[in-house]
Amino acid sequence: MDIDINTFYDLQKCIDNKESRVFKGAFPDIFSVEEFNKFLNLRSFQTIQRLTPTKEVRKLTKWKALSDQDRREPWVKDTTTIPPSLVEEVINSCVCYWPDSSRVNKKINDLALHLEDMSGENCDAHIFFSIKKELENFFGAHYDGATNLIVQAVGKTHWRCCKDPVDTSKVSPNVKNIEDYGVYIDEVLEPGDAIFIPKEVLHEPRNLTPRISVSFPMRSRDKWLKTKNPRQDRKWLSVDFN
Ligand SMILES: [Fe+2]
Repeated sequence: MDIDINTFYDLQKCIDNKESRVFKGAFPDIFSVEEFNKFLNLRSFQTIQRLTPTKEVRKLTKWKALSDQDRREPWVKDTTTIPPSLVEEVINSCVCYWPDSSRVNKKINDLALHLEDMSGENCDAHIFFSIKKELENFFGAHYDGATNLIVQAVGKTHWRCCKDPVDTSKVSPNVKNIEDYGVYIDEVLEPGDAIFIPKEVLHEPRNLTPRISVSFPMRSRDKWLKTKNPRQDRKWLSVDFN
């Protein structure tokens, strides 16, 4: 993805100064409904590891408790693959996300690479989706342990966000009223818009429509520095059969 040069500098400034900020129209066409439906039908995206509901779905819990043999379908290699009819029930009951999705397309992989270079941290892409407007937003007002860039891909989300990190020894990760901490950003994000939220800054998303957004959490590289692969291999593969 080619980041516009001004967006690039503004984003770098936000990363350096730990400042929250909205970027209007800076990341167009990052992930489409067509791509969503492709991955929704791809088995490897519907495993227990991959499809992550944001609250407990009873039927899924029951299914997970079955034996490998009872979960097995003809020809299916991985018995942790959730059957499509159950996937449908899961995504109808709450907001869900797919972690480890930075390779769903080149734009997202490239943006993750840029963010890693800019922040000096390791970056992932989480695809969050809510297929119905009325699905409860589980998160409420909270802060996270990772810095985040959240790009709106489909639909509209109302975001409220504070300016500065809280003292995490005094404030719990979930709070009732974000107003008590000073709302700095109060905006509706539309497709192509993004919000940058430094770690430990309170924020509250509210879905206004069904939506898809791509979150890019950035976590310190330190804990990976001693491992054999301190960074993800972000080479993009493409074969031209000419
Ligand atoms: Fe969050």
